[in-house]
Amino acid sequence: MYSSDFLSHQYSQNPCVLNQLVDNHGRKITYLRLAITDRCNLRCHYCMPEGGVTLIPHADTLSYEEMERLVVLFQDFGVTKVRITGGEPFARVGCFEFLQNLKNKVGVDQLHITTNGVETAKYLIRLKQAGISGINLSLDTMDRKRFKEITRRDRLDRVLATMYGALELNIPLKINSVVTAETSDRDIIALADLAKLHPINLRFIELMPFSGRSKVATSCNHTLIHRLECLFPDLQERRADTVSTARQFGRPGFLGSIGIIEGSSRTFCATCNKLRITPQGMMKACLYDDGVLDLRKLLRSGVSDNKIALKICQCLNHRYADGHETEMANVQQNEPSMATIGG
Ligand code: GTP
Ligand code: 5AD
Ligand code: SF4
Repeated sequence: MYSSDFLSHQYSQNPCVLNQLVDNHGRKITYLRLAITDRCNLRCHYCMPEGGVTLIPHADTLSYEEMERLVVLFQDFGVTKVRITGGEPFARVGCFEFLQNLKNKVGVDQLHITTNGVETAKYLIRLKQAGISGINLSLDTMDRKRFKEITRRDRLDRVLATMYGALELNIPLKINSVVTAETSDRDIIALADLAKLHPINLRFIELMPFSGRSKVATSCNHTLIHRLECLFPDLQERRADTVSTARQFGRPGFLGSIGIIEGSSRTFCATCNKLRITPQGMMKACLYDDGVLDLRKLLRSGVSDNKIALKICQCLNHRYADGHETEMANVQQNEPSMATIGG
């Protein structure tokens, strides 16, 4: 609960209108992406080197209790959607129980998870019972040999078990497919076909500079939309009725839809409604910033929720307009891995 003194102070200091986080561009924050671990059981070559990323010591990772406290606080300030990400969320012991707590105890309205699906199948029935709103599954190919090349692990069968299991249970399913220079037309067509037979939202993602290595030039992303339009001339763009990072397309006779996430053009920034928290408790106002608030330090210094809320509001007063502006202000030598950020 927040005192009226606190709220009026907050109101006079920044544009966070009572009980709703709003940034300096008038964008309401309703979506929290919470990365609960940097550990992963795959090694996708565009995300991390063979040996993995330098892992954060467990003691420096937020505990489930600390994350729960943060979710309660963000919920009090207008967040209605929480996405649990990683690394691979199920690589952290206790992930399912945490999700259950967020639903049953904290009362998160829309609870989502982004997973690589390797360990997820066995949790599906319980996720459904707990009331999960949807699963975003990472899957870049339907070909076992290609899957092994991309992820450096032979786990396609397990990921497909998660995919078909989620479909059977009618859990809303999106598939994230990162398109790199090695992605073949056959890969793209086989993935797109999934959306023909099943109510899947298949999103092709432009490769973004988050490889966990030294900076390298990224591929010719500007061609992705043209590539899709050439492969599928019957794509029909759908008008978005909710804030989304993906452009959505239908195809005649398709049960599902095809989408594209254009990380390089970032046309979705004007409506960006999200904040990110990394596994070590750094709040990011944009995928491309270096972290704008050390929530772990605040939580562990024993300050009140009021104080934390005020700090969050202050950060939102200085949010960049878009990812390009953020990137210009945060020039880094090395690319972070998506696994340490949470996607
Ligand atoms: P929905 O909540 O279903 O819309 O999911 P999402 O697309 O926000 O999340 P997901 O974890 O499935 O991420 C899919 C891809 O979108 C990942 O590669 C993310 O890094 C990318 N993505 C998500 N948000 C942003 C963003 O704000 N900027 C950019 N450039 N990419 C983003
Ligand atoms: N560029 C684009 N997407 C990426 N992902 C991981 N690394 C990258 C990258 N460099 C995707 C994963 C996952 C999502 C959270 O982020 O495939 O689906
Ligand atoms: Fe793991 Fe996702 Fe990175 Fe692949 S992209 S290595 S599944 S965190």
